[in-house]
Amino acid sequence: MTETDFVKKEYRTLAENKTVKDNKEIMELTGYTSQQLDKLPPDAVMGIGCGNPMTECDLQSGMRTLDLGCGPGTDVLLSAMKVAPNGLAVGVDYVPEMIERAKQNAKDCQDIEDNTNFGVADLNIGIGFPDNQFDYVTANCCLCLLDQPKVFREVMRVLKPGGHFVFSEVTLKQALPKEVDDLLKEAFEKHIVPKGNDVASKVFRVYITVAKGDAIIALETLNLLEETGFQTRRLRFPDTYQEQMNIQKMLNQRRSW
Ligand SMILES: C[S@@+](CC[C@H](N)C(=O)[O-])C[C@H]1O[C@@H](n2cnc3c(N)ncnc32)[C@H](O)[C@@H]1O
Repeated sequence: MTETDFVKKEYRTLAENKTVKDNKEIMELTGYTSQQLDKLPPDAVMGIGCGNPMTECDLQSGMRTLDLGCGPGTDVLLSAMKVAPNGLAVGVDYVPEMIERAKQNAKDCQDIEDNTNFGVADLNIGIGFPDNQFDYVTANCCLCLLDQPKVFREVMRVLKPGGHFVFSEVTLKQALPKEVDDLLKEAFEKHIVPKGNDVASKVFRVYITVAKGDAIIALETLNLLEETGFQTRRLRFPDTYQEQMNIQKMLNQRRSW
């Protein structure tokens, strides 16, 4: 099985797992407010992202947005609530089961189904929209899985002039100790991935992402954005006291796996 097939299979299993839902606590820890989460159907609250790009978006009625690797459509639905009644929030994912789940979630949300659109596509092949379409492109925990130089060029192409690209991502600030790195690499190579819906499993999956070399190195990404032509680049680490406390809380909640 190729690495891509393996990752895709993991997300298909996750999409079909109906017990992975209503994960409000995890999503609050990654930056969503209870007011946002209360507006979403439980199946859209999977807690598989790693931040909340919505906090950095200034969405207005009538805008068009695109979410890359939209999963169950969480950020698409929140965008649609802001851009309705005249705007459109689009989500793309390469796992058809995720897109089915996202479409059902849009149906289960009051009044915004018509302001959403979902499609199956592999973003590493391209973003299949014409030029200058979107006011915002967002991504939540998906860029680390993508061919970033190619996808950044595509994002630049589909954004309207003056549009914004906002993403949250697994980011490595410094190298892991070698023994931890070796252990996680071995776990990834042997396809050992905890299936649990608990915080410990989630944290472990994030570490594997880091160990297999997919984590974004912040400064490299900023350079790449500059090379691609993005003008103003802003980086925000979860460095506030409250966010550090949240991460600590997540780690304290670890169960055995
Ligand atoms: C960590 S999940 C995040 C899902 C969603 N953004 C959220 O916050 O809940 C990553 C998503 O990216 C999708 N994905 C990964 N690689 C992709 C690719 N090459 N093309 C399209 N989608 C991809 C996966 O199927 C999965 O749904």
